[in-house]
Order: sequence, then structure tokens, then C-alpha cells
Amino acid sequence: MEGTNSLVVVGAQWGDEGKGKVIDFLAAGADVVARFQGGDNAGHTVVYGANVFKLHHIPSGILNPGCISLLGSGMVINPLVLLDELDELEKRGISTSGLRISGKAHLILAYHQIYDRVNEELLGDNKIGTTGRGIGPAYADKALRRGLRAIDLADIDGFRERLAQILPLQNRLLKNAYDHEGYDLEQLVEMYRLACERLSPLVVDTARLLSESLAEGKKVLFEGAQGTLLDIDHGTYPFVTSSSTVAAAAGSGSGLGPRCTSRVLGVLKAYTTRVGEGPFPTENQGEAGDLLRDQGGEYGTTTGRPRRCGWFDAVIARYAARINGLSGLAVTKLDVLSGLETVNMAVAYECEGAVTGEFPSSMSELKRCKPVYENFPGWYEDVSRARTMADLPDAARQYLEAMEEAVGVPVELVSVGPDRTQTIIRPHTYLAGWCGD
Ligand code: IMP
Repeated sequence: MEGTNSLVVVGAQWGDEGKGKVIDFLAAGADVVARFQGGDNAGHTVVYGANVFKLHHIPSGILNPGCISLLGSGMVINPLVLLDELDELEKRGISTSGLRISGKAHLILAYHQIYDRVNEELLGDNKIGTTGRGIGPAYADKALRRGLRAIDLADIDGFRERLAQILPLQNRLLKNAYDHEGYDLEQLVEMYRLACERLSPLVVDTARLLSESLAEGKKVLFEGAQGTLLDIDHGTYPFVTSSSTVAAAAGSGSGLGPRCTSRVLGVLKAYTTRVGEGPFPTENQGEAGDLLRDQGGEYGTTTGRPRRCGWFDAVIARYAARINGLSGLAVTKLDVLSGLETVNMAVAYECEGAVTGEFPSSMSELKRCKPVYENFPGWYEDVSRARTMADLPDAARQYLEAMEEAVGVPVELVSVGPDRTQTIIRPHTYLAGWCGD
């Protein structure tokens, strides 16, 4: 079942790279789209004609009829938010019959959001800047072996029984450490009764489904959420999320071996953004940063927070290429750079007199790193109507070529606007084959 028919898509920066649009585009050619980590901290905005969809748990594949959309075992799921998402899609005429949930995915319950909020408050100036969705506490409970899983939604009595085992400890924590009155068992059971009824029929053995799909030669797209620098192990710890966001997690987070794919697409914005706290070497708090934020509409899908903006950082992209084993790049939001006289790209860092092309593991070192920029001529043309590389102005093509050279991975897709049609696929690449060209 070696995965030649499968593709992993991951974020190669700090999340918000435009994965939703890229995955939505590629899902048109997929039989299955699987998420393998994270939860409703993710926010995918997908624009289809006049319709704008904001998805948190559900893969963008749901918008393509006939495609199976799967929530894998490495995810954490807030059942109440998932119900809202399902309702919103159904209300707008999108069938959700293709959704499947792994029974092994963990649940985010009401108390996880309280822990998340209070943890952040107590950290004060050192806060992580989480989305407040309870992601970290849900993963912590999983590791502490006191989580509830999607399989526990199968029947309300089983749900009550499992919750009854865990609630005394949670209530003790809530009351003694979190200044909260705690929860009554029946109150929580009632809160999740509808979720048990509606979600339990969707819970299946998703690992088997995936394995069989690959064996049958079906096309499987693994949808990463967040980005490489938010990975719990390889990101800018502690300013990270609590899951493995890198390509290797596609296998472990969906119940497959590492041979489940040979192709990994890294999604990168043509510049860099970050939400939440933590070091960000190319951050630009001046005019250029404001322009990128305004032109790029850089406000969080999940929290509405303004994103921190800066120039493209090839040191990060090279690191992401190595950590994920990237085979191709998808560069998004190239259109946002139109109108700049000069476009900058960080090609190395300077740290206390030494120049390095490597991304440091130490956050205190990263904080001291100053970007070494290469300057490229900008372009004034509107590129949003470009559909082939030849349609792009010379300066934009040269910038993309410089990016490929700096990262050492070919650009296979360029996005020049939010709509599905605003996409350039490089001919003779793996993605061109995926799209049937
Ligand atoms: P958490 O995932 O809510 O615990 O947040 C941890 C860090 O990850 C914070 O800096 C968040 O802003 C960031 N984060 C989580 N999800 C996303 C995302 O989908 N896009 C960008 N940043 C995210």
C-alpha cells in the first residue's frame, strides 16, 4: 500500500499559509481527505464563487461531493463545535454525508477550555497566545490517560460511565487550582447528549478505511493543520500548539505506516505571518508589515486577531523542507505582493556576528537572530488573473525562482487569489498529474 496515490499537505511556516484553499483545490481530485492532528484551533477559509466557508474540524474535502472527509485518531474534537459546523454546512446546502470520525480521536470537553483560559491568564506576559479552544489541555489529558474519545460517544450510558471515572479528578482540579465550581455529572451528560446521538453514527475505524482506500488505488489527501513551526517537537517551543503538525504525523495520526505516502507538499505564503506570541525574525512592524496585513486580509479565522506580518523567510522554509521531507512547494498569496517596489527575502540569519543558514533550536538564540535579506525588484501588475507561470510578470517569476533555489524544492503550485480558479499548476509536476493534466 505504498502511497503513490497519496499526498500529504502541511504548513511550512506558522500556520495560516492558505492550506485550506490549496487542499480544497486538490480535494477535487481526491477520493478521501483525512485530517490527522489538531482540532478546532484550525480555521480554514475556503472561497467558492460567492460562498465563503469557515471550517474548523471538517476537512475542506467536504465541499466536493463524493469525497470522504475523515477526522483521524491524532485529532482532538470538540463535539459541540463540530455539530455547529455540520449544521452550518447543511444549512447552506452542502451534504455532510461523507464525514467519518475515528473512534480514537480525543474529545475536547467544557473543562478543557477553562484550563486553557486560566493557564494563559496565569502565564501573564509569558502566555502562549493560544486560540482558547482547549487544545493543549485535551492533548494533556490524552497523555495523562484520562481523556474521553469519540468512541465514548457511541452510547450515552457509556459516555456517562467514562465521565464518572474522570470527573472527580477534574472537579478537584477545577475547584482547587482553577477557581471554578466544577461540573455535575448529569449536567455534562446533558450538554453532550445530542452530540452522542448525532456523531456516534459517523464513528468508524478510519485507519482501516484509509488502508483499504490506498490498497484500492484511491487518491488520499492528508490535510495538515497549523504549521511546521507550531509543531510540539520541532516548532518554536513553547510557542507551539500541542500536536505533531509535521508530515510524519500523517501516518501516526491516521493509523498508517510511514510508507503511506511519498509526496509531501509544503504550503508557504509568499511572505510570513504569525498569530500568538513568540520570536519572529522577519516580523515587520512598519509600513511593509501593515501593507501585507491590509492587502492580505491577515486576521485570524478562529480568533479574529490581527496577524503579525513580515517578509518571506527562506531559513524557515529550508528547515520545514528538511523536517517534513518536502517534495514540492505551494506558494500562496503571491498577489498580495503586487505594488511593492522591492520585495525582501531572508536568506540567512546573523547572530552575534556569525551568519547561519540554519534555523536554531534555542528560542533565546532565535530571539537574537537578525535576518539577512536579499532584495528583489517588485512588480506593479495585478497577478490575480494569471493562470500559467507565463502570465506572471518577469519580476514575480524571478522571485519564485529565487524561492525555489533558496529552499531547494520545486514550486508546483502558485495561488494568486482566494478563489479555486486563481491557481497556477506547474506542468509536468506531481501535482499536474494529481489534477489530471
Ligand atoms: P493552541 O493550538 O490553541 O493551543 O495555540 C497554540 C499556538 O498555536 C498559538 O500561538 C496559536 O495562535 C497557534 N495556532 C493554533 N492553531 C493555529 C492555526 O490554525 N493557525 C495559526 N496559528 C495557530
